[in-house]
Amino acid sequence: MTTEFLRADGPDSEAVSRAAEILRSGGIVAIPTETVYGLAGNALDAETVKKIYRAKGRPSDNPLIVHIAKIQDWRPLVEEIPERAMALAERFWPGPLTVILKKSAVIPDEICGGLDTVAVRMPSDKIAAAIIEKSGMPLAAPSANTSGRPSPTSARHVAEDLSGKIDAIVDGGACSVGIESTVISLAGDRPRLLRPGGITPQMLREVLGEIEIDHGVFASLAEDEKAASPGMKYKHYAPSAEVFLLRGSLERYREYIRDNQREGDIALCFTGEEKELSVPYVTYGKKDSPEDQARHIFDALRKIDEMGGKRVFARFPESEGVGLGVYNRMLRAAAFKIIEV
Ligand code: TXA
Ligand code: MG
Repeated sequence: MTTEFLRADGPDSEAVSRAAEILRSGGIVAIPTETVYGLAGNALDAETVKKIYRAKGRPSDNPLIVHIAKIQDWRPLVEEIPERAMALAERFWPGPLTVILKKSAVIPDEICGGLDTVAVRMPSDKIAAAIIEKSGMPLAAPSANTSGRPSPTSARHVAEDLSGKIDAIVDGGACSVGIESTVISLAGDRPRLLRPGGITPQMLREVLGEIEIDHGVFASLAEDEKAASPGMKYKHYAPSAEVFLLRGSLERYREYIRDNQREGDIALCFTGEEKELSVPYVTYGKKDSPEDQARHIFDALRKIDEMGGKRVFARFPESEGVGLGVYNRMLRAAAFKIIEV
């Protein structure tokens, strides 16, 4: 299959109309959003949904997020919208928040991996919103990467993974948040945070009061454990190299690398810390800005693969605010291996 490359300068561009046209005819198209690029297709059509799974090589029990352009478009997709769910949507949509509720009958089983719930989000990216609006249907869209690779934050990342496997890629530039949306489930008795992102636990508590943070956010799940969010049981965001998170000061970080150094080592450090390192490096944002780290982490993980690194020593991020999302992705990239230095 040849993949069309569509450069979108804004919501009114030709690329948006062309993408909507392909989507309406049952195709699958990578689109920019404020979080990461998504691989979109008609959420109400089981055949289209299957194409998405196939192109990504994604296990069929890992459900997809449905994207809408207006809050009213949520209603038909779910059994009911509880008051607290509406309060969240009014506060944070459009934006990087995904809300899980009991699904309605219009949602094909193929999307939700056998669960009775559906995840919905309304992106704030203007190009994404225009494509959903113009296509006239809810769009299923997982991150537009090959399953197991770091999520794509540029059209180039998407092309690396999916060129030749999907109908089109819309290039809308770099993603402004850079990590995937916050996922919260309101399908149970108590609100449960399944994936941290741009909407922080503190922001959610301001609307919901107390929330539970699923332990999968911090820890790896046991082999036979049932994941609240199936995506969390899969190896994720992992470069081919083996990643270690080093907890301690910059000085001790440099010393540890120098003392243990081997061929193929790479330092994954904060911007500005690259001086005096004894091995090649990749930076992932400013130390005091989790937002900056979120924008750079996936690109940094891809660069490490390009450099053919064998071992990666990563600086330990703060886990406050948006930093919790960065920390969660980094933990997964490191397969939970932490070294105290
Ligand atoms: O920011 C984002 O959310 C991006 C952009 C494209 O919108 N999309 C994205 O989709 O990250 P994906 O498929 O890569 O991640 C969706 C996550 C997975 O971990 C999946 O297991 C979880 O959400 N999820 C989806 N539906 C669920 C459900 N009904 N119950 C529990 N977890 C669910
Ligand atoms: Mg993903």
